[in-house]
Amino acid sequence: MPSQAESSSPEALVALLETDDVRVQRRAGDALVSHGLAAIPFLAEALVHGSPTVRKAVAFLLGRVSGAAESPRALSALGHAVTDDPEPKVRKNAAVSLGKIAAPAAAEPLASALSRETITWVRPSIALALGSVGGETAHASLLEAIARDDAEHEAIRKALDRVAPKRRAVTWRRDMPWRHDLVLTVPAGLEAVALAEAAELGFHALTLLGPGQLWCPQEVPPWDVLPAMRCVSALHIRAGVTGRLGMDEPQDLAAAVGALLASSPQLRELRDWLQVEGETIRYRFSFANARLRREDLAVVLWAVRAVCRPMGLVDSPSNYDLALVVSLGPKGTELLIGPSFTGDERFAYRRAAVGASIDPVLAACLARLVRTKTGRGVFDPTCGSGALLIERARLGAAAGLQGLDISPTAIRAARENIGAAGLSGLVRVQRGDAADRDRWPECDEVIANLPFGVRTRRPEADLDGLYRAVVGGIAARICSGGRAVLYTSNRKSLNAALARHTDRLRVLDRLKTRSGGLDTHIWILTPQDKP
Ligand SMILES: C[S@@+](CC[C@H](N)C(=O)[O-])C[C@H]1O[C@@H](n2cnc3c(N)ncnc32)[C@H](O)[C@@H]1O
Repeated sequence: MPSQAESSSPEALVALLETDDVRVQRRAGDALVSHGLAAIPFLAEALVHGSPTVRKAVAFLLGRVSGAAESPRALSALGHAVTDDPEPKVRKNAAVSLGKIAAPAAAEPLASALSRETITWVRPSIALALGSVGGETAHASLLEAIARDDAEHEAIRKALDRVAPKRRAVTWRRDMPWRHDLVLTVPAGLEAVALAEAAELGFHALTLLGPGQLWCPQEVPPWDVLPAMRCVSALHIRAGVTGRLGMDEPQDLAAAVGALLASSPQLRELRDWLQVEGETIRYRFSFANARLRREDLAVVLWAVRAVCRPMGLVDSPSNYDLALVVSLGPKGTELLIGPSFTGDERFAYRRAAVGASIDPVLAACLARLVRTKTGRGVFDPTCGSGALLIERARLGAAAGLQGLDISPTAIRAARENIGAAGLSGLVRVQRGDAADRDRWPECDEVIANLPFGVRTRRPEADLDGLYRAVVGGIAARICSGGRAVLYTSNRKSLNAALARHTDRLRVLDRLKTRSGGLDTHIWILTPQDKP
């Protein structure tokens, strides 16, 4: 049976809004919203009701009615409310609704409201609404606005971030010799693989810095490193070090972070290594390896802004050219600068993904681990979206690469990605069950990212059976001198499967890394030499 509210007319429902009973008001409001466009004339009329309680509720509800953006009546009523209503709560709700509706016509009344509003807790809602509406009027009005407190400053910054035209006005300055150290992030546990890639590419100066980190000395420019190295997930410029930072006193922390930034030659001389169009460079500040309370972070952000502004650096957290990262370690603190203006085209072939697609940087590492000199046939029995086969094909010296997956969606994704990588002539994928031995070709290399079974713990997903079939397939089909690389977090199932084939397969190495918050393992197998 519908409740009284649900079966009432919009007119009767508006009358129900004038109550102190929050539940009754909420039910009436929901019922009004469910009337859709038919409720708008009644709501618009009620926005000049004598009761502030009704006007406040109605200003909020208009933003929830679907199709309100198409209703000049709704926009004009909210426009009047945001600029002229005597009750600040009504003006605030009207601003929020105009931001939700985000129709271009809302920019004028919001801009006018921002220039007149004096109540500090209403102004941030108006600024944020202007950010949602966007356009030139909104942009100009936000640029003119002078923040009266932290909350408003933050709201204006966020809003400007949304409306400011996106640009790519920062590039490397290649006319100057590069003289800064780089820190490269690589998959932890696979540093040697990344170092081997670096050496192969001629970057012989790279060395191990720590778990998941390589150090790249001054003579190697970043614009050479990142597009070339596929085993690197991030690149940062080393821009300063200091001792351990205490996290308890936000003012002290802010002062220490400010001092670290102010003393950084890389920051002070930004224009020596960056080509900048215009006056400013946008940055985003964050901590690595530290969690701060919101209010403490706000104190640090103020200090960072004060240091950065004179250097021409403006805070723009969702659309930035440089990431400024203060990384806290047990021995000390480091300032790192991450360039985000460069874009990363290395894995642009990834147009489609499956649920458990592998990180492409990890895929590039695994492809290096499986590579044999001959590579007469490469097989991935659970190929998913094809990342491992694509990365392996990119390494060269592989005559033919084949993939199998039981899921038609995965095969569609793999074909799309293989096509985008320009490898359709070399890599073939087909739908099929890895447990069907007839689908296994003779091969020199087998590479597989097996389902972990973490998300689908269904009894019908017989993981042990699949792992046995894959290891059995390798034992039966891999050629002498060949190599298999298996990647999973499910050690138990894999060890059980391997135990059945110790006469035929030998574990060359076992590596451990982490992905998606899980410890994951890599087995490198080779056929036992025949006696
Ligand atoms: C972890 S995902 C592989 C992800 C892949 N490396 C990628 O980056 O897209 C495991 C894949 O195994 C496939 N699979 C599960 N059981 C299979 C079976 N019996 N035969 C073949 N593929 C199977 C799933 O459909 C899934 O795509």
